[in-house]
Amino acid sequence: MERKRVLTGDRPTGKMHLGHYVGSLANRVRLQDQYECFFLIADLHMLTTRPEKAHIEEIAENAREMVLDYLAVGIDPAKSTIYLQSAIHEVYELNLFFEMLVTVPRLSRLPSLKDMARAADLTEMPFGLLGYPVLQAADILMPRAHLVPVGKDNEAHVEITREIARRFNYLYGEVFPIPEVMIGDVPTLVGIDGQAKMSKSLNNAIFLSDDAATVRKKVFSMYTDPNRIRADIPGRVEGNPVFIYHDIFNPNKAEVEELKERYRQGRVGDVEVKEKLAIALNNFLDPIRDRRAEFAARSGYVDEVIYDGTLRTRKEAQETLMLVKKAMGLTGVWNRISRKAEEAKKRRERANELASQRVGGSTG
Ligand code: TRP
Repeated sequence: MERKRVLTGDRPTGKMHLGHYVGSLANRVRLQDQYECFFLIADLHMLTTRPEKAHIEEIAENAREMVLDYLAVGIDPAKSTIYLQSAIHEVYELNLFFEMLVTVPRLSRLPSLKDMARAADLTEMPFGLLGYPVLQAADILMPRAHLVPVGKDNEAHVEITREIARRFNYLYGEVFPIPEVMIGDVPTLVGIDGQAKMSKSLNNAIFLSDDAATVRKKVFSMYTDPNRIRADIPGRVEGNPVFIYHDIFNPNKAEVEELKERYRQGRVGDVEVKEKLAIALNNFLDPIRDRRAEFAARSGYVDEVIYDGTLRTRKEAQETLMLVKKAMGLTGVWNRISRKAEEAKKRRERANELASQRVGGSTG
């Protein structure tokens, strides 16, 4: 029996952070034994907000950093396929077909697009950014994936994918599974500054590759209960980023409960709470950093991983595109025209031959 498939990926913005880990990376590592996994480097999606050549030139390096993080957290290229989106031209074709299967109002209502436009300082919505979720649908449906592990911010995009898949199957016959979304244990990780979402562009992230001293420094700069100006004032644990992180990353539950208790009573200083969090985070990150350094030291290794994965993915993409064009009847259009054209060419050649034979005969 063939294994079911997973597809997910990220825009190559460079190094990945804790938010990526809890939102999606942890799920990916878990899923790779059960599913056939495809992880894409979504460089075409970068163009939706950053089409300038200078940004395109940074993609290769950013992709390497990102894939190093994939490998460091335990994504195994022997089990999973990592590939470069822009090198799979079938995705561009699928994107065009899918553009016909979703309406402009449906896309316009997605808050994520306005957020992205704002983050990129765009005052107006580029056509391609409106189409961002359509291109994402092309990514997901290209390997005919069943499951999409993503952070909460991508949930609505997977919903669009499901609608497109249903619409395609309805119009042309069953080609695509209707993919399910899988949201990580922590759907959205709060930033170290207390903002709702950890994000590189918000400058509130702890990166998987940050060294121990940087992590400690960032933890000590963390936003906590703003009303607690002294250690002997009772503090709020709920919604407090420091304790949210303790709950997620500190495996010593007894220690966390004890800190919370004393925090509520005003019997612990921020320094102690943060010191223990820094230790917990660094314990969590140590093996990730070690593995990352090992992979980074092997010259060309990451490039090879991406290269091999992309060649593998091409075969899948070609197969899907053939199924798609067949289902749509598009191969039939070209076949009918080319068959007629070839017949006509042959007839003309034969007629020319006969004519030249006659000419040759009369002069010889
Ligand atoms: N939208 C994703 C992000 O926020 C990147 C992405 C592109 C993606 N194509 C995808 C995620 C397909 C999951 C599946 O960076």
